[in-house]
Amino acid sequence: MIITIDGPAGSGKSTVAQTLAKRLGYRYIDTGAFYRAFTLKAMRVGVNMKDEALLKQLLQETKIELRNSEGGTRVFLDGKDVSEAIRTPEVTGNIHYIASRPALRERLVEQQRMASEGVSAVAEGRDTGTVVFPGAERKFYLDAGVEERARRRYLELLETTKGITYQDVLEELKKRDERDTSREASPLKMGDDFIYFDTTDLTSEEVVEALLKKI
Ligand code: C5P
Repeated sequence: MIITIDGPAGSGKSTVAQTLAKRLGYRYIDTGAFYRAFTLKAMRVGVNMKDEALLKQLLQETKIELRNSEGGTRVFLDGKDVSEAIRTPEVTGNIHYIASRPALRERLVEQQRMASEGVSAVAEGRDTGTVVFPGAERKFYLDAGVEERARRRYLELLETTKGITYQDVLEELKKRDERDTSREASPLKMGDDFIYFDTTDLTSEEVVEALLKKI
């Protein structure tokens, strides 16, 4: 059984997907973590983000894994835990170089599918219901007003990022929404078989309950 949850940043996908996976005893697959981890690798190696041939080659020798631990799912890049390092604004700002390239997406999607082999899973991202798991049994789309999404992101980032302002977060989110919905390669969009939820006025617990009912 595969359940997919797509939607823009700050729509509550991650919290809801993780809680749902826990409640159902399914594996949690954070597809954004794959884009984040590879972006981090390219930044660390110092590859020109516009050099697709080199990025492709680098991806061939990159291993990204999600490992479950007591405190939640951890992200490993070439065997090292990068769960925190992949969430910085610098990484977020460079992801579009990776996420916009079909050849790179294809390889990352393969790894995401491998992560769910032989198990039931809850996957979340931008294209999990449309591209990664088109045959998923239940597909959800979570959305929320952009100001509310920025507020949620801001509260999260306050804990880790010095000097961050609400306005910065709002601008970054708008830019990312625009890039994620308008890119040619697997844009964020809702398929006909998706169930839509606006989470603006709901707590994550309420969203989880609503999704469980549909499941
Ligand atoms: O979900 P998260 O905010 O971690 O995703 C980071 C970025 O990775 C997104 O803004 C998007 O550009 C890209 N992404 C994607 N496809 C996915 C998941 C994430 O293109 N399935």
